[in-house]
Amino acid sequence: MPIIRFVREDKDVECKPGENLREVALREGMQLYGLKGQLGNCGGCGQCITCFVAIEGETAPGALSPRTAVEEARLKRRPDNWRLACQTLVQSSVIVLTRPQVSLGNSKARLEAARAQNLP
Ligand code: FES
Repeated sequence: MPIIRFVREDKDVECKPGENLREVALREGMQLYGLKGQLGNCGGCGQCITCFVAIEGETAPGALSPRTAVEEARLKRRPDNWRLACQTLVQSSVIVLTRPQVSLGNSKARLEAARAQNLP
């Protein structure tokens, strides 16, 4: 079973292969949305562009589904490792930073620590 390592929350979560990243994050109580998304989001339709995550590591190529056409259109000016959680299916273990637009204290050390621990 894939593990999603949420860096900001310092939590590993198991999911089924092919599960939707947004649904797993919300089910596990992660704060996926910034203020705008908390006030209103599209519910996972790929329209509000508020469910950003950064993929900070993966155990294998193809750990996540390819970017959808919605993401290609909506993430043009964002870093290459950003995804819309609602458009992303998890196939194998990954390291995820929620709300990458919000600063993460001691981010370099926390990302290094997350990558240093083995993922199944
Ligand atoms: S929840 Fe609206 S774009 Fe992902």
